[in-house]
Amino acid sequence: MPNAGDLSGRFIVVGVSGGIAAYKAVEVCRLLVDAGAHVAPIMTPDAERFIGKTTLSALCSEPVHTSLWDDASPIPHTRLGQRADLIVVAPATARVIAAYAAGMSDDLLTATLIATVAPVVVCPAMHTEMWEHPAVRHNVATLRSRGVHIVEPEDGRLAGGDMGRGRLAAPETILAEARRVLAPTQSKLAARHVVVSAGGTREPIDAVRVITNRSSGKQGHAIANEAARRGAKVTLVTTADFLPVPGVSVVRVETAAEMKSAIDTAAASADVVIMTAAVADFRPVPIAEGKWKKHDGVPSVVLEPTPDILAGLGAAKRPGQVLVGFAAETSNLVDNAKSKLAHKNLDIVVANDVSQPKVGFGHDTNAVTIVTKLGTSAIPLADKRTVAAHVLDSVEASLHPTQEHP
Ligand code: C5P
Repeated sequence: MPNAGDLSGRFIVVGVSGGIAAYKAVEVCRLLVDAGAHVAPIMTPDAERFIGKTTLSALCSEPVHTSLWDDASPIPHTRLGQRADLIVVAPATARVIAAYAAGMSDDLLTATLIATVAPVVVCPAMHTEMWEHPAVRHNVATLRSRGVHIVEPEDGRLAGGDMGRGRLAAPETILAEARRVLAPTQSKLAARHVVVSAGGTREPIDAVRVITNRSSGKQGHAIANEAARRGAKVTLVTTADFLPVPGVSVVRVETAAEMKSAIDTAAASADVVIMTAAVADFRPVPIAEGKWKKHDGVPSVVLEPTPDILAGLGAAKRPGQVLVGFAAETSNLVDNAKSKLAHKNLDIVVANDVSQPKVGFGHDTNAVTIVTKLGTSAIPLADKRTVAAHVLDSVEASLHPTQEHP
Protein backbone atom coordinates (compact mmCIF):
# COMPACT_ATOMS: atom_id res chain seq x y z
CA MET A 1 0.00 0.00 0.00
CA PRO A 2 1.50 3.39 -0.94
CA ASN A 3 1.72 5.93 1.87
CA ALA A 4 -0.77 8.77 1.76
CA GLY A 5 1.75 11.57 2.44
CA ASP A 6 2.00 14.90 0.64
CA LEU A 7 4.28 13.37 -2.01
CA SER A 8 1.76 10.65 -2.70
CA GLY A 9 1.64 9.71 -6.37
CA ARG A 10 4.99 11.35 -7.14
CA PHE A 11 7.61 9.27 -8.98
CA ILE A 12 11.01 10.30 -7.69
CA VAL A 13 14.30 8.93 -8.99
CA VAL A 14 17.06 9.14 -6.37
CA GLY A 15 20.55 8.97 -7.85
CA VAL A 16 23.31 7.94 -5.47
CA SER A 17 26.90 8.49 -6.52
CA GLY A 18 30.13 7.32 -4.96
CA GLY A 19 30.99 9.37 -1.90
CA ILE A 20 31.08 8.55 1.78
CA ALA A 21 27.79 10.49 2.14
CA ALA A 22 26.08 7.71 0.16
CA TYR A 23 25.00 6.23 3.49
CA LYS A 24 22.85 9.34 4.05
CA ALA A 25 21.00 8.63 0.77
CA VAL A 26 19.39 5.74 2.59
CA GLU A 27 17.74 8.22 4.94
CA VAL A 28 16.77 10.52 2.03
CA CYS A 29 15.00 7.61 0.32
CA ARG A 30 13.28 6.60 3.55
CA LEU A 31 11.97 10.13 4.13
CA LEU A 32 10.68 10.38 0.55
CA VAL A 33 8.94 7.00 0.80
CA ASP A 34 7.43 8.01 4.15
CA ALA A 35 6.10 11.17 2.48
CA GLY A 36 4.26 8.93 0.01
CA ALA A 37 6.56 9.11 -3.03
CA HIS A 38 7.34 6.18 -5.30
CA VAL A 39 11.14 6.11 -5.10
CA ALA A 40 13.21 4.50 -7.85
CA PRO A 41 16.88 4.36 -6.81
CA ILE A 42 19.88 4.46 -9.13
CA MET A 43 23.42 3.76 -7.88
CA THR A 44 26.62 4.47 -9.77
CA PRO A 45 29.24 1.70 -9.69
CA ASP A 46 31.30 3.65 -7.12
CA ALA A 47 28.28 4.15 -4.86
CA GLU A 48 28.27 0.37 -4.42
CA ARG A 49 31.65 0.67 -2.69
CA PHE A 50 29.93 2.64 0.09
CA ILE A 51 26.51 1.06 0.58
CA GLY A 52 24.89 -2.22 -0.39
CA LYS A 53 22.26 -2.46 -3.10
CA THR A 54 20.06 -4.53 -0.80
CA THR A 55 19.71 -1.66 1.67
CA LEU A 56 18.31 0.73 -0.94
CA SER A 57 16.21 -1.93 -2.66
CA ALA A 58 14.60 -2.86 0.65
CA LEU A 59 13.78 0.75 1.54
CA CYS A 60 12.68 2.07 -1.84
CA SER A 61 9.62 1.35 -3.95
CA GLU A 62 11.48 -0.71 -6.54
CA PRO A 63 14.82 -2.53 -6.75
CA VAL A 64 17.91 -0.42 -7.23
CA HIS A 65 19.02 0.22 -10.84
CA THR A 66 22.74 0.18 -11.50
CA SER A 67 23.42 -0.33 -15.18
CA LEU A 68 22.31 0.75 -18.61
CA TRP A 69 22.57 -2.87 -19.64
CA ASP A 70 21.31 -5.31 -17.04
CA ASP A 71 17.87 -3.83 -16.30
CA ALA A 72 14.77 -5.77 -17.37
CA SER A 73 13.89 -2.79 -19.57
CA PRO A 74 16.21 -2.33 -22.57
CA ILE A 75 16.34 1.45 -22.12
CA PRO A 76 16.12 2.04 -18.37
CA HIS A 77 17.44 5.62 -18.55
CA THR A 78 14.62 6.83 -20.81
CA ARG A 79 12.00 4.88 -18.84
CA LEU A 80 13.20 6.40 -15.57
CA GLY A 81 13.85 9.84 -17.05
CA GLN A 82 10.43 10.05 -18.69
CA ARG A 83 8.48 8.71 -15.71
CA ALA A 84 10.21 10.92 -13.15
CA ASP A 85 8.36 13.84 -11.61
CA LEU A 86 11.66 14.71 -9.93
CA ILE A 87 15.24 13.44 -9.84
CA VAL A 88 17.27 13.93 -6.66
CA VAL A 89 21.01 13.28 -6.84
CA ALA A 90 22.31 12.74 -3.30
CA PRO A 91 25.19 12.70 -2.87
CA ALA A 92 26.38 14.25 -6.13
CA THR A 93 30.13 13.81 -6.59
CA ALA A 94 32.35 16.20 -8.56
CA ARG A 95 32.41 13.61 -11.35
CA VAL A 96 28.62 13.33 -11.66
CA ILE A 97 28.26 17.12 -11.55
CA ALA A 98 30.90 17.48 -14.28
CA ALA A 99 29.35 14.81 -16.48
CA TYR A 100 25.86 16.29 -16.07
CA ALA A 101 27.13 19.80 -16.85
CA ALA A 102 28.98 18.52 -19.93
CA GLY A 103 26.03 16.42 -21.13
CA MET A 104 27.99 13.18 -20.83
CA SER A 105 26.05 10.01 -20.18
CA ASP A 106 28.51 7.24 -19.39
CA ASP A 107 26.50 5.47 -16.70
CA LEU A 108 22.83 4.95 -15.86
CA LEU A 109 22.60 7.95 -13.53
CA THR A 110 24.11 10.49 -15.93
CA ALA A 111 22.18 8.99 -18.87
CA THR A 112 18.94 9.37 -16.90
CA LEU A 113 19.79 12.97 -16.05
CA ILE A 114 20.28 13.74 -19.74
CA ALA A 115 17.11 11.82 -20.66
CA THR A 116 14.70 13.77 -18.46
CA VAL A 117 12.81 17.04 -18.61
CA ALA A 118 11.70 16.63 -14.98
CA PRO A 119 13.08 19.03 -12.37
CA VAL A 120 16.40 17.93 -10.87
CA VAL A 121 17.73 18.55 -7.36
CA VAL A 122 21.50 18.08 -7.08
CA CYS A 123 22.98 17.73 -3.59
CA PRO A 124 26.78 17.95 -3.82
CA ALA A 125 29.05 16.34 -1.24
CA MET A 126 32.85 16.36 -1.43
CA HIS A 127 35.97 17.59 0.29
CA THR A 128 36.27 21.37 0.73
CA GLU A 129 39.18 21.63 -1.73
CA MET A 130 37.13 19.91 -4.41
CA TRP A 131 33.99 21.95 -3.68
CA GLU A 132 36.03 25.15 -4.02
CA HIS A 133 37.86 24.10 -7.17
CA PRO A 134 37.12 26.47 -10.08
CA ALA A 135 36.07 23.54 -12.28
CA VAL A 136 33.44 22.43 -9.76
CA ARG A 137 32.28 26.03 -9.17
CA HIS A 138 31.93 26.45 -12.93
CA ASN A 139 30.00 23.19 -13.38
CA VAL A 140 27.64 23.99 -10.51
CA ALA A 141 27.04 27.47 -12.00
CA THR A 142 26.30 25.85 -15.37
CA LEU A 143 23.73 23.52 -13.82
CA ARG A 144 22.13 26.42 -11.91
CA SER A 145 21.87 28.46 -15.10
CA ARG A 146 19.92 25.57 -16.63
CA GLY A 147 17.40 25.57 -13.80
CA VAL A 148 18.85 22.67 -11.81
CA HIS A 149 18.16 23.09 -8.08
CA ILE A 150 21.33 22.89 -5.98
CA VAL A 151 21.15 22.01 -2.28
CA GLU A 152 24.37 23.54 -0.95
CA PRO A 153 26.64 21.32 1.10
CA GLU A 154 27.05 22.19 4.78
CA ASP A 155 30.03 22.87 7.05
CA GLY A 156 31.06 20.00 9.25
CA ARG A 157 33.06 16.85 9.64
CA LEU A 158 34.18 15.28 6.36
CA ALA A 159 35.66 11.90 5.52
CA GLY A 160 39.03 11.24 7.16
CA GLY A 161 38.23 13.55 10.09
CA ASP A 162 38.70 16.81 8.15
CA MET A 163 36.43 19.75 8.92
CA GLY A 164 35.03 22.24 6.41
CA ARG A 165 32.39 22.95 3.76
CA GLY A 166 31.34 19.99 1.64
CA ARG A 167 29.26 17.76 3.89
CA LEU A 168 26.02 16.55 2.29
CA ALA A 169 23.02 18.62 3.41
CA ALA A 170 20.84 16.98 6.05
CA PRO A 171 18.29 14.48 4.63
CA GLU A 172 15.48 16.67 6.05
CA THR A 173 16.85 19.66 4.08
CA ILE A 174 16.88 17.57 0.90
CA LEU A 175 13.31 16.39 1.57
CA ALA A 176 12.21 20.00 2.09
CA GLU A 177 13.75 21.00 -1.25
CA ALA A 178 12.02 18.08 -3.01
CA ARG A 179 8.73 19.21 -1.46
CA ARG A 180 9.33 22.82 -2.51
CA VAL A 181 10.14 21.88 -6.11
CA LEU A 182 7.12 19.56 -6.36
CA ALA A 183 4.68 21.88 -4.58
CA PRO A 184 1.57 22.12 -6.75
CA THR A 185 1.50 25.32 -8.73
CA GLN A 186 -1.43 27.60 -8.24
CA SER A 187 -2.92 26.02 -11.31
CA LYS A 188 -6.49 26.76 -12.35
CA LEU A 189 -6.64 23.09 -13.27
CA ALA A 190 -6.30 21.94 -9.65
CA ALA A 191 -9.29 19.74 -8.76
CA ARG A 192 -10.84 20.23 -12.23
CA HIS A 193 -11.93 17.22 -14.26
CA VAL A 194 -9.87 17.07 -17.45
CA VAL A 195 -10.69 14.49 -20.13
CA VAL A 196 -7.98 13.72 -22.68
CA SER A 197 -8.13 11.39 -25.68
CA ALA A 198 -4.97 9.88 -27.17
CA GLY A 199 -3.77 7.58 -29.92
CA GLY A 200 -5.12 6.45 -33.26
CA THR A 201 -8.34 4.46 -33.37
CA ARG A 202 -8.40 1.00 -34.97
CA GLU A 203 -11.41 0.13 -37.09
CA PRO A 204 -11.91 -3.57 -37.86
CA ILE A 205 -12.25 -4.73 -41.46
CA ASP A 206 -12.69 -8.40 -40.59
CA ALA A 207 -11.83 -10.60 -37.59
CA VAL A 208 -8.08 -9.87 -37.84
CA ARG A 209 -7.52 -6.72 -39.92
CA VAL A 210 -7.89 -3.07 -38.98
CA ILE A 211 -7.67 0.36 -40.56
CA THR A 212 -5.64 2.69 -38.38
CA ASN A 213 -3.27 5.67 -38.56
CA ARG A 214 0.23 6.59 -37.42
CA SER A 215 -0.72 8.38 -34.17
CA SER A 216 1.37 7.02 -31.26
CA GLY A 217 -0.60 8.60 -28.41
CA LYS A 218 2.56 10.24 -26.98
CA GLN A 219 1.23 13.81 -27.16
CA GLY A 220 -2.09 12.92 -25.51
CA HIS A 221 -0.36 11.00 -22.75
CA ALA A 222 2.01 13.93 -22.16
CA ILE A 223 -0.99 16.25 -21.82
CA ALA A 224 -2.74 13.88 -19.41
CA ASN A 225 0.42 13.56 -17.29
CA GLU A 226 0.98 17.33 -17.20
CA ALA A 227 -2.68 17.98 -16.27
CA ALA A 228 -2.33 15.48 -13.39
CA ARG A 229 0.88 17.20 -12.31
CA ARG A 230 -1.10 20.46 -12.12
CA GLY A 231 -3.56 18.82 -9.77
CA ALA A 232 -6.37 17.97 -12.20
CA LYS A 233 -8.44 14.81 -11.96
CA VAL A 234 -7.70 13.28 -15.34
CA THR A 235 -9.59 10.72 -17.41
CA LEU A 236 -7.44 9.51 -20.31
CA VAL A 237 -9.31 7.69 -23.07
CA THR A 238 -6.59 6.07 -25.12
CA THR A 239 -5.72 3.41 -27.67
CA ALA A 240 -2.05 3.42 -26.55
CA ASP A 241 -0.36 1.25 -23.95
CA PHE A 242 1.94 3.64 -22.09
CA LEU A 243 2.06 3.31 -18.31
CA PRO A 244 -0.31 5.79 -16.70
CA VAL A 245 1.09 8.17 -14.08
CA PRO A 246 -0.62 8.55 -10.71
CA GLY A 247 -3.64 10.84 -10.91
CA VAL A 248 -4.60 9.67 -14.40
CA SER A 249 -7.40 7.16 -14.73
CA VAL A 250 -7.18 5.29 -18.02
CA VAL A 251 -10.02 4.03 -20.18
CA ARG A 252 -8.58 1.75 -22.87
CA VAL A 253 -10.46 1.78 -26.20
CA GLU A 254 -9.92 0.60 -29.78
CA THR A 255 -12.52 2.02 -32.15
CA ALA A 256 -14.01 5.46 -32.77
CA ALA A 257 -17.34 4.17 -31.44
CA GLU A 258 -15.73 2.98 -28.19
CA MET A 259 -13.88 6.26 -27.89
CA LYS A 260 -17.07 8.25 -28.42
CA SER A 261 -18.93 6.30 -25.78
CA ALA A 262 -16.10 6.71 -23.22
CA ILE A 263 -15.58 10.40 -24.02
CA ASP A 264 -19.29 11.25 -23.92
CA THR A 265 -19.61 9.57 -20.52
CA ALA A 266 -16.56 11.35 -19.09
CA ALA A 267 -17.40 14.70 -20.71
CA ALA A 268 -20.68 14.90 -18.79
CA SER A 269 -18.70 15.99 -15.71
CA ALA A 270 -15.65 17.46 -17.47
CA ASP A 271 -14.44 21.04 -17.12
CA VAL A 272 -12.03 20.52 -20.01
CA VAL A 273 -11.99 18.04 -22.90
CA ILE A 274 -8.82 17.77 -24.98
CA MET A 275 -9.25 15.62 -28.09
CA THR A 276 -5.67 14.75 -28.97
CA ALA A 277 -6.65 11.39 -30.50
CA ALA A 278 -6.49 10.78 -34.22
CA VAL A 279 -10.01 9.45 -34.57
CA ALA A 280 -10.82 7.60 -37.78
CA ASP A 281 -13.07 9.64 -40.04
CA PHE A 282 -14.31 6.50 -41.83
CA ARG A 283 -14.84 2.90 -40.81
CA PRO A 284 -15.53 -0.28 -42.80
CA VAL A 285 -19.13 -1.36 -43.07
CA PRO A 286 -20.18 -4.06 -42.55
CA ILE A 287 -17.32 -5.71 -40.60
CA ALA A 288 -16.77 -9.10 -42.26
CA GLU A 289 -17.41 -12.09 -40.05
CA GLY A 290 -14.31 -14.26 -39.61
CA LYS A 291 -11.20 -13.65 -41.71
CA TRP A 292 -11.31 -12.81 -45.37
CA LYS A 293 -9.52 -15.57 -47.29
CA LYS A 294 -7.20 -14.96 -50.24
CA HIS A 295 -8.92 -17.62 -52.32
CA ASP A 296 -12.23 -15.73 -52.07
CA GLY A 297 -10.71 -13.05 -54.33
CA VAL A 298 -9.91 -9.38 -53.76
CA PRO A 299 -12.51 -7.91 -51.40
CA SER A 300 -13.78 -4.36 -51.63
CA VAL A 301 -13.93 -2.38 -48.44
CA VAL A 302 -16.89 -0.02 -48.13
CA LEU A 303 -16.46 2.83 -45.66
CA GLU A 304 -18.99 4.91 -43.74
CA PRO A 305 -18.28 8.14 -41.82
CA THR A 306 -17.75 7.92 -38.07
CA PRO A 307 -19.49 10.42 -35.81
CA ASP A 308 -17.30 13.46 -35.07
CA ILE A 309 -16.91 13.19 -31.30
CA LEU A 310 -15.58 16.70 -30.83
CA ALA A 311 -18.21 18.35 -33.02
CA GLY A 312 -20.84 16.54 -30.92
CA LEU A 313 -19.30 17.90 -27.72
CA GLY A 314 -19.10 21.38 -29.28
CA ALA A 315 -22.80 21.31 -30.15
CA ALA A 316 -23.69 20.32 -26.58
CA LYS A 317 -21.05 22.46 -24.83
CA ARG A 318 -21.90 23.54 -21.28
CA PRO A 319 -21.19 27.15 -20.23
CA GLY A 320 -17.64 27.36 -18.88
CA GLN A 321 -16.55 24.05 -20.41
CA VAL A 322 -13.34 24.31 -22.45
CA LEU A 323 -13.03 22.19 -25.59
CA VAL A 324 -9.70 21.65 -27.32
CA GLY A 325 -9.25 20.06 -30.73
CA PHE A 326 -6.13 18.98 -32.56
CA ALA A 327 -5.57 19.44 -36.25
CA ALA A 328 -2.91 17.53 -38.14
CA GLU A 329 -2.45 19.48 -41.34
CA THR A 330 -0.08 19.46 -44.28
CA SER A 331 -0.99 22.94 -45.58
CA ASN A 332 -2.86 26.16 -44.63
CA LEU A 333 -2.26 25.38 -40.95
CA VAL A 334 -3.74 28.47 -39.32
CA ASP A 335 -6.65 28.99 -41.72
CA ASN A 336 -7.77 25.38 -41.33
CA ALA A 337 -7.42 25.61 -37.56
CA LYS A 338 -9.50 28.81 -37.44
CA SER A 339 -12.27 27.25 -39.46
CA LYS A 340 -12.23 24.14 -37.22
CA LEU A 341 -12.45 26.39 -34.15
CA ALA A 342 -15.61 28.01 -35.53
CA HIS A 343 -17.28 24.95 -37.07
CA LYS A 344 -16.84 22.66 -34.08
CA ASN A 345 -17.55 25.42 -31.48
CA LEU A 346 -14.13 24.96 -29.86
CA ASP A 347 -12.11 27.20 -27.56
CA ILE A 348 -8.67 26.08 -28.72
CA VAL A 349 -7.28 24.29 -31.76
CA VAL A 350 -3.75 22.93 -31.59
CA ALA A 351 -2.50 22.63 -35.15
CA ASN A 352 0.59 20.80 -36.28
CA ASP A 353 2.10 20.63 -39.72
CA VAL A 354 2.78 16.90 -39.93
CA SER A 355 4.72 17.32 -43.18
CA GLN A 356 7.58 18.92 -41.18
CA PRO A 357 10.48 16.77 -39.86
CA LYS A 358 10.18 15.60 -36.20
CA VAL A 359 6.62 16.96 -35.93
CA GLY A 360 3.56 15.01 -34.85
CA PHE A 361 2.83 11.31 -35.37
CA GLY A 362 5.21 8.94 -33.59
CA HIS A 363 7.91 11.51 -32.75
CA ASP A 364 8.96 12.53 -29.24
CA THR A 365 8.93 16.15 -30.37
CA ASN A 366 6.28 18.42 -31.81
CA ALA A 367 5.89 21.96 -33.14
CA VAL A 368 2.41 23.44 -32.95
CA THR A 369 0.40 26.58 -33.45
CA ILE A 370 -2.16 27.20 -30.74
CA VAL A 371 -5.20 28.98 -32.16
CA THR A 372 -7.81 30.55 -29.88
CA LYS A 373 -10.56 33.11 -30.44
CA LEU A 374 -8.10 35.75 -29.25
CA GLY A 375 -5.20 34.92 -31.54
CA THR A 376 -2.50 32.45 -32.46
CA SER A 377 0.78 31.49 -30.85
CA ALA A 378 3.49 29.36 -32.46
CA ILE A 379 5.34 26.86 -30.25
CA PRO A 380 8.62 25.91 -31.95
CA LEU A 381 9.96 22.32 -32.01
CA ALA A 382 10.11 20.98 -28.43
CA ASP A 383 9.60 17.70 -26.60
CA LYS A 384 5.96 16.70 -26.23
CA ARG A 385 6.00 17.37 -22.48
CA THR A 386 6.89 21.03 -23.14
CA VAL A 387 4.21 21.27 -25.83
CA ALA A 388 1.74 19.78 -23.31
CA ALA A 389 2.62 22.54 -20.83
CA HIS A 390 1.94 25.22 -23.47
CA VAL A 391 -1.40 23.66 -24.40
CA LEU A 392 -2.45 23.54 -20.75
CA ASP A 393 -1.30 27.14 -20.16
CA SER A 394 -3.65 28.08 -22.96
CA VAL A 395 -6.46 25.97 -21.41
CA GLU A 396 -5.92 27.74 -18.08
CA ALA A 397 -6.17 31.11 -19.80
CA SER A 398 -9.51 30.03 -21.32
CA LEU A 399 -11.03 28.73 -18.07
CA HIS A 400 -13.43 31.36 -16.86
CA PRO A 401 -12.45 32.59 -13.39
CA THR A 402 -16.07 32.65 -12.22
CA GLN A 403 -16.26 28.94 -13.01
CA GLU A 404 -13.44 28.15 -10.59
CA HIS A 405 -14.07 25.59 -7.94
CA PRO A 406 -14.01 26.84 -4.35
O1 C5P B 1 -11.79 17.84 -38.56
P1 C5P B 1 -10.69 16.98 -38.08
O2 C5P B 1 -11.04 15.52 -38.08
O3 C5P B 1 -9.36 17.25 -38.69
O4 C5P B 1 -10.54 17.41 -36.54
C1 C5P B 1 -9.59 16.84 -35.73
C2 C5P B 1 -10.06 16.95 -34.30
O5 C5P B 1 -11.35 16.36 -34.17
C3 C5P B 1 -9.17 16.18 -33.34
O6 C5P B 1 -9.18 16.86 -32.10
C4 C5P B 1 -9.85 14.82 -33.24
O7 C5P B 1 -9.58 14.20 -32.00
C5 C5P B 1 -11.32 15.20 -33.38
N1 C5P B 1 -12.14 14.18 -34.05
C6 C5P B 1 -13.21 13.63 -33.38
N2 C5P B 1 -13.98 12.67 -33.99
C7 C5P B 1 -13.72 12.28 -35.23
C8 C5P B 1 -12.66 12.85 -35.95
C9 C5P B 1 -11.87 13.79 -35.32
O8 C5P B 1 -13.44 13.99 -32.23
N3 C5P B 1 -14.48 11.36 -35.78
